[in-house]
Amino acid sequence: MIVLGVETSCDDTAAAVLEDRRALRANLVSSQDAVHAPYGGIVPEMASRQHIGVIQPLVDRALEEAGVAPGELDGMAVTYGPGLTGSLLVGLSFVKGWSFRSGIPYVGVNHLEAHVLSIFLEKEVAFPYLALVASGGHTLLYVVRGFGDYEHLGGTLDDAAGEAYDKVAKMMGLGFPGGRVIDDLAKKGDLRAVAFPRARLRTPYDFSFSGLKTSVWHYLTRKRQDRWRDEMADIAASFQEAVVDMLIAPTLRAAAELGIERIVLGGGVSANSRLRGKMAEKAGEAGVEVNYPSPRFCTDNGAMVALVGSHRLAQGGRNGPRLNADPALIL
Ligand code: KG4
Ligand code: ZN
Repeated sequence: MIVLGVETSCDDTAAAVLEDRRALRANLVSSQDAVHAPYGGIVPEMASRQHIGVIQPLVDRALEEAGVAPGELDGMAVTYGPGLTGSLLVGLSFVKGWSFRSGIPYVGVNHLEAHVLSIFLEKEVAFPYLALVASGGHTLLYVVRGFGDYEHLGGTLDDAAGEAYDKVAKMMGLGFPGGRVIDDLAKKGDLRAVAFPRARLRTPYDFSFSGLKTSVWHYLTRKRQDRWRDEMADIAASFQEAVVDMLIAPTLRAAAELGIERIVLGGGVSANSRLRGKMAEKAGEAGVEVNYPSPRFCTDNGAMVALVGSHRLAQGGRNGPRLNADPALIL
């Protein structure tokens, strides 16, 4: 079964061609980072306009790279939520229109489910597992008992982990998006240099990053800029360590309390080198296995959408012309 996956939920336009749920024949991402960078964050109106300009040529190129003629597709999959309404509508309308014209069936995919299952693009993981999805828009923890069988354990009460990275990077003048830049800068810094706080919540499987973000802001404004400029790497490393600790603690606690032996990461922040290293170390000590997708499958991509769509299409799933974008879709 050859499936086209299309993803336009936020600021990346992505298209992939996946054969039999395993063989990835093309996986293209067109990033809008340069468009939004001057604003230090995503401008929704500009994001949807960019998708409109890019989607058709990107899909054409993905099919060409895959060596697949449009008529050879068995199905299409497209993210229909959660995300920015205008952005979602571009991908969804594109696929819906094509499906209507060609008769090729399509299914709408939940972006969060795609992150939760993206590991299967590279390896098999036995159920049940804990899925930690940490991205620019979400920080969520689930028990995954099978395809389509998810239990929501907790999530962020304020900012998403990636949002905290992006905002702190903006405060420090490091550009947008901030995750990769802070990750790289932190490698040169001392992670014990600044004692940033770790939120302690009453709900054990939830997360909170806004207090940490405010704490970094206070630290920077208390010091004169010419002083903290010299300790950028230390601040980045200390901030990152706090984020990583706050992602690891609820996840390992859930693993211990629920007796789950496997963890799977997903979402842009799970590309973070310190999170990958420390989670592996701490989980190893607890006898829990950790699985990470390659960084290109952590950030938004069409392959994970094609993967979820392949399962749904194989089970006979179909969506029609009535499916609408759902910016607040949950899993
Ligand atoms: O999953 P994703 O591509 O898009 C959303 O669905 O949000 O995640 C993007 C987020 C951004 O906030 C970005 O700063 C963060 O992931 N990110 C990272 C790293 N690479 C991307 N955060 C920390 N370390 C990284 N290496
Ligand atoms: Zn995402």
